[in-house]
Amino acid sequence: MITRRTLAALPVLAAAGPTLARSKLPIVIAHRGASGERPEHTRLAYELAIAEGADFIEPDLVVTKDGHLVVRHENEIGGTTDVANRPEFAARKTTKTIDGESVTGWFTEDFTLAELKTLRARERLPQLRPGSAKFDGHAEIPTFEEVVKLAKAKGVGIYPEMKHPTYFAGLGLPLEPRLAGALKAAGLDSATAKVFVQCFEVEPLRTFGRLSKARRVMLVSQGAAPVDVASEAGIKAIAGFAEGLGPEWPLVVPVKDGALAAPTPLVGWAHAAGLQVHPWTVRAENAFLPKTLQRGAGPAAHGDATALLKALYAAGVDGVFSDFPELAVKARA
Ligand code: G3P
Ligand code: CA
Repeated sequence: MITRRTLAALPVLAAAGPTLARSKLPIVIAHRGASGERPEHTRLAYELAIAEGADFIEPDLVVTKDGHLVVRHENEIGGTTDVANRPEFAARKTTKTIDGESVTGWFTEDFTLAELKTLRARERLPQLRPGSAKFDGHAEIPTFEEVVKLAKAKGVGIYPEMKHPTYFAGLGLPLEPRLAGALKAAGLDSATAKVFVQCFEVEPLRTFGRLSKARRVMLVSQGAAPVDVASEAGIKAIAGFAEGLGPEWPLVVPVKDGALAAPTPLVGWAHAAGLQVHPWTVRAENAFLPKTLQRGAGPAAHGDATALLKALYAAGVDGVFSDFPELAVKARA
């Protein structure tokens, strides 16, 4: 099973206690749009997600050379666009250190928005998602403003993530004021607006909180994290600078011996601290599912993601990120 980081780093949490009763249905967050079915972070992916019933659409955010927020999972764009096939940009290929990792490719901060708009999006995982790859070349890179406009027009929420905020601040292109300004301009600067702002880093969330009233979500993966999610005190501390917690899903429903195990205490601790819990990311392909939920042959075949979604809902989560929002909507029903 492919996971974001190694499973080994975080101690297994104890068996779950009872979770708090909820009055609302959990929200379905379309992760990078309906990114299992269309190239991620494109208008095509967002429009399909909305048609499938997603409550929120998720844009990851990076910055251009001329200071615009654009929607990409990372600032290196070789894996999700046709930039490598564009001779006019060949000389822009370079190697940089991003958050401690050496990365070679083409970077949004070296392109103006006008230049980026000439590129076309491609499926990141064509071997796993050949149906989505058929849409390669059909869509451009959206700006954050364009995605906000779409969300508002369709009546869904927006769930932006600040990507590499410390790195961009070091370039003199900070994400936080740009994001706060864009939300304010869209009339979304309030704690009741259909907005959650997420980040894997603590300080950018604190900085953003000084600039906007929009709700914040602390993301945590199974690997090393800047916050402690293995104790109730650690979870309580997160409530000092966020309104929600976005854990990698096995932190809520762990996998043991290739099967889903009993929920951890995470949801109960978070709710006691006043935090919503939105785990990520449920994907349908066998490659991303535990052994006992895999079906058919090969990593691209779809397994029983519905069982995983139902286990997360039963654990009391307040929402779930999925590359397949249609499955998440159906499982919730
Ligand atoms: O934002 C939730 C989830 O998207 C975090 O992981 O790497 O897919 O942005 P990533
Ligand atoms: Ca994200």
